[in-house]
Amino acid sequence: MRMLDIIQNKKHGMELSAEEIDFFVQGYTKGEIPDYQASALLMAIWFKGMSEAETANLTKSMVNSGDTLDLSGIKGVKVDKHSTGGVGDKVSLVVIPLVAALGIKVAKMSGRGLGHTGGTIDKLGSIPGFNTSITMDQFISNVNSHGMAIVGQTANLVPADKKLYALRDVTATVDSIPLIASSIMSKKIASGSDAIVLDVKVGSGAFMKTIEDARTLARAMVGIGNNLGRRTIAILSNMDEPLGSEIGNANEVREAILTLKGEAEKDLINVACAIAAQMAVAGGAFTDVSEAEKAVMELITSGKAVDFLAELVEIQGGDKRVIYDPELLPKAGFVIPVVSEKEGYVHSIMAEEIGTAAMLLGAGRETKEDEVDHSAGITLKKKVGDRVEKGDVLCILMTNRENHDAALSKAHEAYVVTEVPPDKVPYILDVIG
Ligand code: URA
Repeated sequence: MRMLDIIQNKKHGMELSAEEIDFFVQGYTKGEIPDYQASALLMAIWFKGMSEAETANLTKSMVNSGDTLDLSGIKGVKVDKHSTGGVGDKVSLVVIPLVAALGIKVAKMSGRGLGHTGGTIDKLGSIPGFNTSITMDQFISNVNSHGMAIVGQTANLVPADKKLYALRDVTATVDSIPLIASSIMSKKIASGSDAIVLDVKVGSGAFMKTIEDARTLARAMVGIGNNLGRRTIAILSNMDEPLGSEIGNANEVREAILTLKGEAEKDLINVACAIAAQMAVAGGAFTDVSEAEKAVMELITSGKAVDFLAELVEIQGGDKRVIYDPELLPKAGFVIPVVSEKEGYVHSIMAEEIGTAAMLLGAGRETKEDEVDHSAGITLKKKVGDRVEKGDVLCILMTNRENHDAALSKAHEAYVVTEVPPDKVPYILDVIG
């Protein structure tokens, strides 16, 4: 088999065989296929697309390029969730205890954040003692006895994706539906759960700017999941602004606790409850999503949901007192209000800009080697649709860095204030699967 012929076939819009795809993925991962040939194939895929069978085969080959998690030691259906990337997205912190409380097993492998998006592992790092580097035996034992556990992503999970993503990044081939879908799903499949609930973000702050593109991506991912024997459901949720009102690690833990008490912003409560309910159905605890949503709300209103988060913290070595007293979470030295320079209505809050502002304050990483400052972050005081007067506080920056000018100007850029209020957009736009 020759790489040249595979590129030719795709260039002419032909369907690649499973063998051709595997030859490319394994060869490129091992360094036997050069970047220039891989780049040519990626660009041909960008132009000609891939069929459902090709996309599933690409995903399967990517999964086989590295380690896979064997969760067979966990009894019952294991359910995972994934978000296509959002700023202020602390939904995992909320749904893991909620779903475990409903009797479903959640064995979650999560990543660290890079650039303008935060990672769940970094958020949990703001809880003193919380250990996300537990052994696989401990991970499986925690899921079996408490219904939940979370661990950092192993280094050799889907190495093909690491190499291909880096190449896509510099060859203008990131925004290809089959490439995005296989990249996301390969990591989910390798993480071993039986069922997957996907949160596909739509809007100014998301990868997918339109509902049509988001539906196409969601269908591609659901198709892969089902093809590879995993029950997969996708929720499409609005991302014209960050989710909730907190961005940053300790900030988001604080807001996750509020969500579990039913006291957070409505967008966050709605999206978290919708995802938890879909996970409960995918795991077989309910047949009806509205029944599952009712059970989720009951956990919140009864106050029991917070206890399950405290249990997760405790079993992973963390100090559970912070869950009942969030004042114990780390706090930054500087608190800087960002005020509106004009009056009107908040039309959108550009998630990428606000995420970059948070990163510049120390909450995120510019490079993989950077340390995060768990106390740095942003609290949004105005959300989309809110009326603002000149001089009103739009958001508050928290940092330990003395120079915060760049973050301040990014936060200003993030807020789009217009004379007329924006149209109301529902939090959940569609469900596919
Ligand atoms: N997230 C991923 O993991 N991969 C992509 O290609 C895009 C978003």
